[in-house]
Amino acid sequence: MKQQFFLVLVAALCHWSANAAPVAYESACKYCHESGVGHSPKLHNPDDWAPRLVKGMDQLLQSVKQGRNAMPPGGLCPQCSDEELLEAIRFMAGHGPQYQ
Ligand code: HEC
Repeated sequence: MKQQFFLVLVAALCHWSANAAPVAYESACKYCHESGVGHSPKLHNPDDWAPRLVKGMDQLLQSVKQGRNAMPPGGLCPQCSDEELLEAIRFMAGHGPQYQ
């Protein structure tokens, strides 16, 4: 029984590290989006992200670059590239193919 638990734990850790957060998320988005500071859509919370995702990735990218209400332009990374920001958005919104 104990052994099984250990195996599950190892598997979970491997899974977690394979899905490690993008650098931009860790350094520039996590501060607010992990816990939903200022009513920001929360990390991996489909209910928060669904109404945002319907706008399309182009629009969401524009929101981040220009800033939106409590979110400063570029999140905390005004120097991030479009690709880095998109990667961070995809990571926050979930991992499913529907978000690619
Ligand atoms: C200082 C806090 C803060 C940081 C840092 C931050 N955000 Fe946000 N973010 C917010 C808030 C608050 C909202 C909700 C804005 C609104 O719609 O009122 C938001 C909304 C968003 C949205 C939805 C925009 C829309 O049009 O609906 C996206 C996408 C987003 N953030 C991506 C990012 C990314 C990517 C980063 C990191 C590069 C980031 N945010 C960093 C606070 C932050």
